[in-house]
Amino acid sequence: MLLSGPNLNLLGEREPAVYGSDTLDDHVAAARAAAEELGYSLEHFQTNHEGALVEAVHAARGRADAIIVNAGALSHTSWSLHDALAAFAGVVVELHLSNPAAREPFRHVSTIAPVADGSIAGFGGLGYPLAVEAVVRMLNATRAQ
Ligand code: DQA
Repeated sequence: MLLSGPNLNLLGEREPAVYGSDTLDDHVAAARAAAEELGYSLEHFQTNHEGALVEAVHAARGRADAIIVNAGALSHTSWSLHDALAAFAGVVVELHLSNPAAREPFRHVSTIAPVADGSIAGFGGLGYPLAVEAVVRMLNATRAQ
């Protein structure tokens, strides 16, 4: 399950110097292609609403092996998303196009990092297939045990 938070629907038009010129559809297509090549399917949901993101995490419980989440600015503020992800049993990857640690101080806090298995940030659109590959490798390693 790939989840996208607020303002990511504007990718391609929004601050291209920071986030690039690819659209969210482009990133989803790259993530889906990577997943399918590795034998998985990928669902995507984008919302500008915190509660809808929380409910999407709830809906993924028991259905999805993993959640890759680029929560946009909610990554820095949302304890409800933190708690929802804490109640998800699968792999969780926090994803960002930019590197929040190298940006404004308010972006240095992540409410998701403490409940994520790992984070991928700063690689632009490459982060989407990288996140999928990280998830699949983690799932395969866990299942091999
Ligand atoms: C972002 C980084 C966040 O700080 C920002 O609010 C976004 C996008 C990224 O992908 O780089 O909306 O999550």
